[in-house]
Amino acid sequence: MIKKIGILTSGGDAPGMNAALVGAIRTGYKLGKEMYVVYDGYKGLIENNFTKVDEHFAEDKMAHGGTLIKTARLPEFKEEKVRQLAVENLKKEGIEALIVIGGDGSYMGAKRLTEMGINCVGLPGTIDNDIASSDFTIGFDTSLNNICDAIDKISETMASHNRCCVIEVMGNHCPDLTLYAGIACNADYIITCDRPLDEKDLIKTLKEKKAAKQDHVIVLVAEKQLDINELVKTIAKETGWDTRADVLGYIQRGGTPSAMERVNAIRMGAYAVELLDRGIGGVCVGLVDNKLHYYDIIESFDLERNKHEDLYRTFDLIK
Ligand code: F6P
Repeated sequence: MIKKIGILTSGGDAPGMNAALVGAIRTGYKLGKEMYVVYDGYKGLIENNFTKVDEHFAEDKMAHGGTLIKTARLPEFKEEKVRQLAVENLKKEGIEALIVIGGDGSYMGAKRLTEMGINCVGLPGTIDNDIASSDFTIGFDTSLNNICDAIDKISETMASHNRCCVIEVMGNHCPDLTLYAGIACNADYIITCDRPLDEKDLIKTLKEKKAAKQDHVIVLVAEKQLDINELVKTIAKETGWDTRADVLGYIQRGGTPSAMERVNAIRMGAYAVELLDRGIGGVCVGLVDNKLHYYDIIESFDLERNKHEDLYRTFDLIK
């Protein structure tokens, strides 16, 4: 029976990570474990930067975004000798299991550590919602609300000037934040990997909106699709809309986690400890149809991303 469990956050921070810590730490002490936090993601493992915490750790930070235990990206963790050092450090402290909260880049490290004798459970922590083994990742809901709040504000000023705004939304290569925000904010056009730029169609749509005397238009572009400054020039030239570009940036990733975010993060954190207590490792946790599931990490990489045809249809229907 494992006694000591470590937790780390890795990759981009996401609102709700602190709530996941609370879910795991509270459950750990309920089940008679000693709980440790690792600072700075995988880097903390190789730098021996971890510490035992009490059962109230992070409770006062549940309503805060970011991650209390910091995060980092550590590409060197792909190297066996780097992971070996991490395993030695953990074993010296008697830590036999680890919860890794991060994106799927962090999951591979968790799988490899499991193979080296440290049972790991991955939790989907990223605003991008790009982890196929979970309907929703920790951070997605809050980020979506941040984005909608920003778009609503931008819309007010655009409407006052009868302008068009092209807004770049985060998500790495995943379209979900853009698609959901497009529906929630009634955007006029969205450009994602599933709906790449069709310049003719975009120009036609924006001209129609001008002819219909719509007071402003909003075009959402998922990041890494195209250069929005170039698109702004094309729109202005071809449609006559006075057009601006706005990259929302890091405002999308911070802020108070929504209530649903906290609930889901706490559930996943608690479940991860329950799995480790049952001796299960090398897996990642997901919420599917509002139920907790776990998947072998390697198999989870083969799961197909939800293409959200129904949501694209909804978007089209309200246009
Ligand atoms: O994965 C979260 C995310 O915010 C992505 O949406 C974005 O592409 C990336 O992180 C930015 O990473 P960084 O903060 O390291 O530049």
